[in-house]
Amino acid sequence: MAENENHIVVIASFMMDLTTKLKKIPVRGETVFGEEFKIGPGGKGSNQAVCAKRLGLNITVVAKLGNDVFGREALNNFKKEGFETDFIFIDHEHPTGVAPIFVEKSGENMIAIVPGANSFLNTGEIDRSIDKIRSAKVLLTNLEVPVETSYYALKIANKNGVTTILNPAPAPSATLDDDIFKYIDIITPNETEALGILQMQGAELSTEKIAEKLLSKGVKNVVLTLGKKGAFFMSGNEQGYIEAFKVETVDTTGAGDAFNGALAAAICEEKPLKNSIFFANKVAAISTTRFGTAPAMPYRIEVEKMI
Ligand code: RIB
Repeated sequence: MAENENHIVVIASFMMDLTTKLKKIPVRGETVFGEEFKIGPGGKGSNQAVCAKRLGLNITVVAKLGNDVFGREALNNFKKEGFETDFIFIDHEHPTGVAPIFVEKSGENMIAIVPGANSFLNTGEIDRSIDKIRSAKVLLTNLEVPVETSYYALKIANKNGVTTILNPAPAPSATLDDDIFKYIDIITPNETEALGILQMQGAELSTEKIAEKLLSKGVKNVVLTLGKKGAFFMSGNEQGYIEAFKVETVDTTGAGDAFNGALAAAICEEKPLKNSIFFANKVAAISTTRFGTAPAMPYRIEVEKMI
């Protein structure tokens, strides 16, 4: 097997998800009774890595955890999922990231992240994993780690012919350096994140216009995730909507991560973009039928069984 066959490097931001299930998300100043509370592994990058791994891909995770109880739990979890831990760095000064989450009956959520150690994953640590990045087929990263770190990883990967995917979540608070876009093969924002990148928060733009504007920044392919409506993609010569699968939703948290993990997996398996999005929609749909984020990611066999 060639070294890069089915090999994806994921910049695996990790948060311990502290999730409360309740009838309705409280409004400002309100106190409500929750129905259930769970602590479980999360973080966008880590969820994406778990998803792609459960789909059978060969994954290297690059992550940073605190030297604390959540960090140890995260490490055990990474091991349980079958990841090597060579590029999981421990920060002795900052805590493991956490994410308090509310999930209401409708399945919708509200999330705050406190990234802790994730904010200190640096370019030197990316350098430590450089051989893995260079020999990978796909690199998948996000914005729960510093933008400079993601940018650096994208650049190394791109310069070595590795297909790069940026999931620009959460929405960037500041303008992204224009230089970053040329290193991105596929960008996968939702509409809010896309408007954040364009610095046009709150603007009323059609999905097509948003994609067009992102494409004109120099990204090669835009995949806009549209929640229940599925996804829209635009590349140089093709564009279109790919509908979402209809399922009984329990919890939408992590659906975007399932989408990104599965998209990276399909791209790594050399499926055309359109087919990869179809596959990613399916995986994301399954993840919403279960409570939680990483634990909700389906295995390949479950995806194959779904019609
Ligand atoms: O996308 C869902 C994830 O966002 C959660 O797991 C939470 O940790 C935040 O990173």
